[in-house]
Amino acid sequence: MAKFQAPKGVSEYVPDRSSHFDYVRSTLIESAVVAGYQLVELPVFEDTELFARGVGESTDVVRKEMYTFEDRGGRSITLRPEGTAGVMRAVIEHNLDRGQLPVKVYYSGAFFRAERPQAGRYRQFYQVGIEAIGVADPRIDVEVIAVAERAFRQLGLQNYRLEITSLGDSLTRENYLADLRSYISGVSLDEETTARASLNPLRLFDDKRPEVKDLMSKAPVLMDYLTPESAADFAKVQELLSMIGIDFVVNNRMVRGLDYYTGTAFEFVHNDLGAQSGIGGGGRYDGLMAQLGGQELSGIGFGLGIDRILLAREAEGLALPDGLGLDLYIVPLGTGDEALKISEELRLRGIRVDLAFGDKALKGAMKSADKSGARYAIVLGADEISSGVVSLKEMKSGETTSVTLSALANELIERIANLGENS
Ligand code: HAM
Repeated sequence: MAKFQAPKGVSEYVPDRSSHFDYVRSTLIESAVVAGYQLVELPVFEDTELFARGVGESTDVVRKEMYTFEDRGGRSITLRPEGTAGVMRAVIEHNLDRGQLPVKVYYSGAFFRAERPQAGRYRQFYQVGIEAIGVADPRIDVEVIAVAERAFRQLGLQNYRLEITSLGDSLTRENYLADLRSYISGVSLDEETTARASLNPLRLFDDKRPEVKDLMSKAPVLMDYLTPESAADFAKVQELLSMIGIDFVVNNRMVRGLDYYTGTAFEFVHNDLGAQSGIGGGGRYDGLMAQLGGQELSGIGFGLGIDRILLAREAEGLALPDGLGLDLYIVPLGTGDEALKISEELRLRGIRVDLAFGDKALKGAMKSADKSGARYAIVLGADEISSGVVSLKEMKSGETTSVTLSALANELIERIANLGENS
């Protein structure tokens, strides 16, 4: 019978790479948690209209990349292509914006875009995102950027850069878009492109065709239109980033792929990833809540691409840090009943333990211990059980120490704690 395969273009993680994926994801989440962001767990599908209105009709995401279907009740449903619109929907629905501001939330999960698959670009991919809603203050912009930057540093990444820009306030964009439209009306474009430009002329900056790229390279630049207030906010963001030691470059020509952005926008770009080099991006979206039927509140956030961050770590040759795997592997001789009991006792104390199952000969079981990546191993036979003493072997050095079974948990806990201090 033909074997099933995963659908085209999805990313999936199985051992051992899944441990690396898990490490990246938990480091990103921890960086948000230490800054006071709380979990939101939201549905992976929503009313299609939420994304059409929130993300924007002119975007590639809405025009070409949504997984949209009719459910059994005849409703149009879409698998979430991004997280921000759903968060805003939930904040409005649960009146979170009527409490303490800013509302600070994070999420982690799968997102879906029907893109042409290639290295680092998947149809189901994973993000960790944060959103800070309800306070317009450049300090929050910097906090949000710092959550990403701190996580990347903790993950050991070095070969990336932060690009920032400002899309200004509504007056900025009004003035700018008027000039941009008049520039575009003076050049000749095909019908579809003209229609796209009339929905959102900024989208032409996304166009990959050389002739359109060439036209747009001569178009007016938004940064030249910033109102004094927007310019002051953007200057403040830069000053504060420098103050806390975050390097950045200003990119006047950054185009974010979603329509809701206003004010500060940013992208983290990794140098070793080829075409799909964006490991994370975000920005302010001050009109989004009102656009989705809520009150006029500002917001800012980011989405970080776990898949690409994992690829970036691999490209930089970064291994998993020590201490994430198993602490102990038990090789039972005989029935293994006692080994099972001891494993459970140790696991209750927070020690990560695995053991050989089945009727493995000692040699095979020792091989499993090696393969398991555990830091320590013990052999548990009739002699050890009757004497109550085991030989604790450190797998890397081969060194062994005699430890009583009753002291084993404490001995391991102490060694694990020392490992944390020394790393
Ligand atoms: P985005 O720039 O569309 O922003 O996506 C954020 C990140 O998700 C990208 O930088 C990339 O790492 C990853 N990503 C996007 N598409 C794919 C794909 N097809 N395959 C693999 N990775 C991908 C947003 O989604 C916004 N919701 C971020 C945000 C939150 N802005 C404000 N708040």
